[in-house]
Amino acid sequence: MGDTNKEKQLAALEAAKLVEDGMVLGLGTGSTAYFAIEEIGTMVRNGFSVTAVATSARTEEQALKLGIELVSIDDVDSIDLTIDGTDEFDPHLNLIKGGGGALLKEKMVARMSDRQVIIADSTKKVEKLGAFRIPVEVLPFTVNYVKSMIDDSGGKGHIRMDGDEFYLTDEQNYIIDADYGLMDDPYGISDYLNDIEGVVCNGLFLDLAEMVIVGEGDRIVTYTREIEEEQVEQDAEDGRLHG
Ligand code: A5P
Repeated sequence: MGDTNKEKQLAALEAAKLVEDGMVLGLGTGSTAYFAIEEIGTMVRNGFSVTAVATSARTEEQALKLGIELVSIDDVDSIDLTIDGTDEFDPHLNLIKGGGGALLKEKMVARMSDRQVIIADSTKKVEKLGAFRIPVEVLPFTVNYVKSMIDDSGGKGHIRMDGDEFYLTDEQNYIIDADYGLMDDPYGISDYLNDIEGVVCNGLFLDLAEMVIVGEGDRIVTYTREIEEEQVEQDAEDGRLHG
């Protein structure tokens, strides 16, 4: 197994330790999430009972083969724990995801999860997001319009292809990979993208990950997001803070 694959597996096995009997799980997509799903399959074979939401057709197929019970994303109110990969993460644990095209369900499960745990190999760690282009899922008939809106805002949109055809997501949408270079303000760019008519979802996952578990050589390094005090106070004022 190559070094990167070993790092992915190390991180995945560490994250799987967070799975508890009876949990509703979000199952991510990609080569790192793959290892976590295999481990969860082993836990199920050993008697664990979990229910899971798959974030892609690929993950669904893998989970079904392993005997993991699946439910549709629309049939759960919340998810206890999601384990997913990432294309990049920065020191604030903000992410770029969607390299594998599954960003829509990945973002939904992230928002619905009490705990969003990201697993990664050491190549995914960056100081600033943006070397990896931001995947932007769009309704097919809006692709040229959205691309022009990205190009007009200082970015460069690249329509994702699959050979000679447009790449299609599980939901039969297209993807534009948006290059804004290394970003000083990913929040502003995310807001801008979300405001364009036709955009279904963008691959900036901001303030969603609670923890990133990284395989670095033979070691596991865990980063945990500090929730800003100001934000906690704000939530308390809004009456949204529990416990
Ligand atoms: C899938 O759409 C992505 O968000 C993946 O989670 C991301 O691309 C990481 O994939 P790997 O684990 O294969 O690097």
